[in-house]
Amino acid sequence: MAKIAPSILAADFSRLGEDVKDVCSRGIDYLHVDIMDGEFVPNISFGPDVMKSMNSIATVPYDVHLMIVKPDRYIEKFITDNTEFITVHYEACDDLASTIQHIKDAGAKAGVSIKPGTAPEVLDDYLADIDLILVMSVEPGFGGQKFMDSSLPKIEYYAKKREELGLDYVIEVDGGVGAGNAHLVRDAGIDIIVAGSAVFKAADRTAEVAAIKGE
Ligand code: DX5
Ligand code: ZN
Repeated sequence: MAKIAPSILAADFSRLGEDVKDVCSRGIDYLHVDIMDGEFVPNISFGPDVMKSMNSIATVPYDVHLMIVKPDRYIEKFITDNTEFITVHYEACDDLASTIQHIKDAGAKAGVSIKPGTAPEVLDDYLADIDLILVMSVEPGFGGQKFMDSSLPKIEYYAKKREELGLDYVIEVDGGVGAGNAHLVRDAGIDIIVAGSAVFKAADRTAEVAAIKGE
């Protein structure tokens, strides 16, 4: 069984509080918070104040996904009592080792994400210091895209490395996953599944969450 982190990018922003409250009651493990700067990705989502507006409503921790260039500038702004993970993109960092340390010093667990075109081996030198690896299964920037199965061997790669090296990072996948294909990432060894559209647009969110987790 996997854990699930619904992405609030797929929520109805005109009633964000109600949607977050609702999804938190469906057996979820984290809230995935997608932050886009219009530069690293061709889209802009929302900022830290919108995230913080959910602090009194959210009953699960935040899993923050920073799709922004030079993320060190904003790490502290996304640390709250609800923040468990801050994930940055390998492709967006000038000095990944120092950014990982920065996240930890600021009080969160450190995640690193790779885009679909990035080889998994680029993180080899950092694995011992990473708390979470986020494998993108769509090009970052938009919800509702089709799952890319090129993510599957990457998930397997990181699961194998973790065992070989005796490490304990968690592996997460993001993009295009729903009840119909979640078994693929679970079979590959995934720990946390991000799902935006599939959960928020489901007729029965509780059933969708359970099916994605493999309950
Ligand atoms: C894409 C985001 C994803 C996205 C997932 O840039 O990082 O978290 O919202 O949405 P779905 O599940 O709809 O593909
Ligand atoms: Zn994301």
